[in-house]
Amino acid sequence: MFLIFPDAESLAEHVSATLVDQIAKKPEIVLGLATGGTMEPVYRRFVEQVKRQAVDLSKFRSFNLDEYVGLAADHPKSYAAYMYEHLFRHIGHDPARHFLPDGLAPDLSQHCRDFAQMIRQCGGIDLQLLGVGTNGHIGFNEPGTPLDSRCHVVALSERTRIDNSRFFPEGAIVPATAITMGLQDIMEARRILLLATGQGKAETVAAFHDSDVTPDVPVTVLKRHPDATIMLDAAAASLLPPDVRERCAASAAMCMPLRRYA
Ligand code: GLP
Repeated sequence: MFLIFPDAESLAEHVSATLVDQIAKKPEIVLGLATGGTMEPVYRRFVEQVKRQAVDLSKFRSFNLDEYVGLAADHPKSYAAYMYEHLFRHIGHDPARHFLPDGLAPDLSQHCRDFAQMIRQCGGIDLQLLGVGTNGHIGFNEPGTPLDSRCHVVALSERTRIDNSRFFPEGAIVPATAITMGLQDIMEARRILLLATGQGKAETVAAFHDSDVTPDVPVTVLKRHPDATIMLDAAAASLLPPDVRERCAASAAMCMPLRRYA
């Protein structure tokens, strides 16, 4: 379940190669996409790779996990703007194929229902990318979120708002609410890759390893998924038991042949 890479760059390279490989096998793939600092090197590599290899991206569809309530898509700190900046402006953005929740939807509850429904109409998510918050949230499913939750509006925790304040200008107020895919929506993805990098995630990863499935640490729900891989760099893995680190570093080394795509 864990794969441990020496550093964030080699992890990003592997994830990017996996995406390219999956798109080549199934051009009409439905991807679940995530935002955050962890994903930036992944999208950077992916853009380089698809340009170098002239990968056909005309058919894939994507759904993003979450969006801040109250930020328009063209607000520089919206997740729509993040996706445009890090991915879509480089590969082409077709609003009919790439979906994000709308933080300005007039009826948010209805919008959440429509968003979850649209995922189902597209046949569900084939491959979901996930990051993790330091409090164990995935998407914006904060501690305490029911494991069977669907797309919903969430009040962000103080911890999440502080963590994410680094993406906002000094003194700016981080939105207090967001729309997120629910844990059940995420669990319905056929394959999940959760990425965590850096020392700042080491305690979260250790909590994931040590806990049973509990809404107090939402990421633990992935322990029930039949095809979820937790991909770490050495720093994020540093508080795992030494035998786990040894075994999982070895299995990541076996994945390295995928680098031929890079
Ligand atoms: C945000 C996003 C999550 C993301 C998490 C981790 O709260 N809603 O989807 O996984 O932050 O972000 P980072 O990669 O910047 O640590």
